[in-house]
Amino acid sequence: MATAENRSETLPRNTAVVGLQWGDEGKGKIVDLLTARHDVVVRYNGGANAGHTVVVGDSKYALHLIPSGILYPDIECVIGNGVVVDPVKLIEEIDSIQSRGIDAQSRIHISDRSHLVLEHHKMLDGALEELLSKDAGDNSIGTTRRGIGPAYADKVLRSPAIRTGDLLLGEDVLLEKIRFSADIHARQLDAFGFSERPDPARIFEECLRSRDRLGENITDTTYLLNDAVKAEKRILFEGANACLLDVDHGTYPFVTSSNCSTLGIPTGTGLPPKAVEHVVGIMKAYSTRVGAGPFPTELSDAVGDKIRKSGNEYGTTTGRPRRCGWLDLVAVKYTSMLCGVDEIACMLLDVLWDFDEVRICTAYRLTDGTITDRFIPDAGRLEGVEPIYETLPGWTGPLDVEGAREDLPENARNYLSFIESFLEVPIRLVSVGPERTQTLVASV
Ligand code: GDP
Ligand code: IMO
Ligand code: MG
Repeated sequence: MATAENRSETLPRNTAVVGLQWGDEGKGKIVDLLTARHDVVVRYNGGANAGHTVVVGDSKYALHLIPSGILYPDIECVIGNGVVVDPVKLIEEIDSIQSRGIDAQSRIHISDRSHLVLEHHKMLDGALEELLSKDAGDNSIGTTRRGIGPAYADKVLRSPAIRTGDLLLGEDVLLEKIRFSADIHARQLDAFGFSERPDPARIFEECLRSRDRLGENITDTTYLLNDAVKAEKRILFEGANACLLDVDHGTYPFVTSSNCSTLGIPTGTGLPPKAVEHVVGIMKAYSTRVGAGPFPTELSDAVGDKIRKSGNEYGTTTGRPRRCGWLDLVAVKYTSMLCGVDEIACMLLDVLWDFDEVRICTAYRLTDGTITDRFIPDAGRLEGVEPIYETLPGWTGPLDVEGAREDLPENARNYLSFIESFLEVPIRLVSVGPERTQTLVASV
């Protein structure tokens, strides 16, 4: 019989897990489940802005930089070149996992070409947000203030960038790089009228501590991963953030600074595109968003509050309340197309229990009155569109997690069937609670 644990036995060798909405879809839970039949789990984008929750019995783990496969003992975890690494946060995370009896340090491989997020990146992230919030109408992005944007900006600028491999350079060279990078940021802070300044000496000391702790974990992960593919090891790609936050394809400029969709996998790992053989798209049964930006199906009413309460929709990284709304299939059909999704895991279906009716957005009415079933990946043009809904009857009754998807209440099954036929992609996993065991598998 198909179970959540053996689901990955039937998957091709290399699978990607990617969020199809604005993040927090439950990627951590599914990566953890699928890890059982893989050898390597790799993060290809983002940084400590991600917060992936894995619940195992009474234990809850919130992972930010370490791939969510770490809880399985023999799995190798790779932080690819596309990730921006906050070494202080990473060490904290390793220590926290090790204190819970899991050997993490020796199984983490960090790309020498990933870029570092240091004190000055976080400072500039916060300063830019404050500056924007003073605009009339508040134009801040609502970032996690984890230094993500400034670190990726430095990567593209090149001269102020510091890569993880630079920790292994001679100390004089490293100090010089830090001085230059911090100075560029200090000048920006000064120009913006902030009195706060990064301290190169302090950053340098922090980098030396990071080098001592992480030095042996830093390697050429491009060769490591290509060798793993050659040795027929099974690789699981863990997307961070989500497709609607993708810097090229999301609701720009209210996005993060990396390619979170599967399109970011080759550049973020050094593996060729054909290495990704199968894509599992992770979708909440409704929509949430944390931070600013357009959200056509947002519910600023008692229904939205009910979803937030029942889904415990508060950020894993920042604790901020998440904005909640009905499922937007215009958006998910778009991201499913972009990511080449082969199957969907529908998460948090339990949160939609006990509603008289549930709604699904299937088209938008634009401000000029025209109707479209195409997503608009541009914040300015997406703002103000009106969602057009299908209304389906709700469901109630016992939540039987021992059963299969076929045992769900009829109206819940109809809800899932509606989604599948609209997206033209099968839903193979249905999650009805945070734990590994609270997962139903379609017997297709
Ligand atoms: P991620 O960033 O995509 O990994 O998702 P997060 O961990 O940030 O947020 C998802 C939250 O939903 C976490 O608290 C999970 O433990 C929880 N969760 C995952 N699946 C389910 C589910 O099916 N039902 C409920 N009620 N909670 C779930
Ligand atoms: P996971 O992996 C939800 C959002 C932030 C903000 C925007 C830019 O847990 O799904 P950044 O700090 O990246 O510059 O912020 O992106 N954001 C996320 N929202 N889940 C995430 O990750 C997110 N990562 C970034 O809230 O709106
Ligand atoms: Mg999250």
